[in-house]
Amino acid sequence: MRVLGIETSCDETACAVVTDAADPARRIVSHSLFSQLREHAPYGGVVPEIASRAHIEHLDGLVAESLRTAGMKLGDLDAIAATAGPGLIGGVMVGLTTAKTLAYATNKPLIAVNHLEGHALSVRLSDDVPFPYLLLLVSGGHCQFLVVEAVGRYRRLGTTIDDAAGEAFDKTAKLLGLGYPGGPAIERLAKQGNATRFNLPLPLKGKPGCDFSFSGLKTAVRLALESCGANPSDQDKADLAASFQRTVMAVILDRAKNAIALFGESHGASGKHFVVAGGVAANAVLRAGLVDLSAQHGMTFTAPPMALCTDNGAMIAWAGLERFRLGMIDDLEAPARARWPLDAMAAAKPFAGAKA
Ligand code: KG4
Ligand code: ZN
Repeated sequence: MRVLGIETSCDETACAVVTDAADPARRIVSHSLFSQLREHAPYGGVVPEIASRAHIEHLDGLVAESLRTAGMKLGDLDAIAATAGPGLIGGVMVGLTTAKTLAYATNKPLIAVNHLEGHALSVRLSDDVPFPYLLLLVSGGHCQFLVVEAVGRYRRLGTTIDDAAGEAFDKTAKLLGLGYPGGPAIERLAKQGNATRFNLPLPLKGKPGCDFSFSGLKTAVRLALESCGANPSDQDKADLAASFQRTVMAVILDRAKNAIALFGESHGASGKHFVVAGGVAANAVLRAGLVDLSAQHGMTFTAPPMALCTDNGAMIAWAGLERFRLGMIDDLEAPARARWPLDAMAAAKPFAGAKA
């Protein structure tokens, strides 16, 4: 089975061909990615209009490149998958329309993939993690705990009530005068800083449930920076980066404890796998904390390789493949959606021929 996947929901234009080879190491046949980082960097964040135009400019070339490196023609594919949301609507429309056109022209099935499902299933592409598992999805746009029960069956346990964790990293980096994206820059700077110098608030820590809130933290970082005077030193900035990172990690670990308890209540002994995905999963401090926490609760911990944590085409192709082999295909009317909560998918109409 060979599936082409297209991802254009944010600032990466990406495309890949994956197969259902038994060996996970052989599943990604080819992948191509154009990162728009340089286009957006001068603005300190992603500019939707610039993103849409860059997707239009690069996507056709990337599709051709993916097929060429895979040594395939369009006719060799079994299905064509694309992100249909959630995301920046202009970009989603570019990718989905391209996929629809290819599907129509070649008479191949289309699979409209939820971007979050791409992140949620990527660990099955890389590591064959069995259902059910507890997923922490932490990226620039999302911060949530999901129970992944099966393909198309997700239950959200908690989510952010304001900013996503990656967004908090990006905003803090901007305040500290670091570049975009902020996460890697903060992680680097934090290594030189004193993580206990600033006592920042721990939003929702100790509260029941596993929701997040990060917007207050941004204000606290701004006030802490102002307390250093008009010209904060490099050491001030490093200390603040380290203190901020320590605080975010403490909050995530506190929320994760509650999520593990909720997962255990509903799944008992079968709830033994903890998975993290999304760009913030690149953070080594977070990974180390989650490895420890999982071990304390007798759970296995799995994170996809870095290239599969951040946005990419292979995770969309793989989610498409998992859906396709269960008979879950979409028609050419499938809408592009700016918002599309993953747990609402359970309520979607069952697809003809679906086995699960
Ligand atoms: O998954 P992703 O590539 O795109 C979205 O779907 O949002 O995640 C990007 C986010 C950015 O906010 C970036 O600052 C954050 O992931 N990020 C990190 C690190 N690397 C990327 N955050 C913390 N530490 C990192 N090392
Ligand atoms: Zn993403």
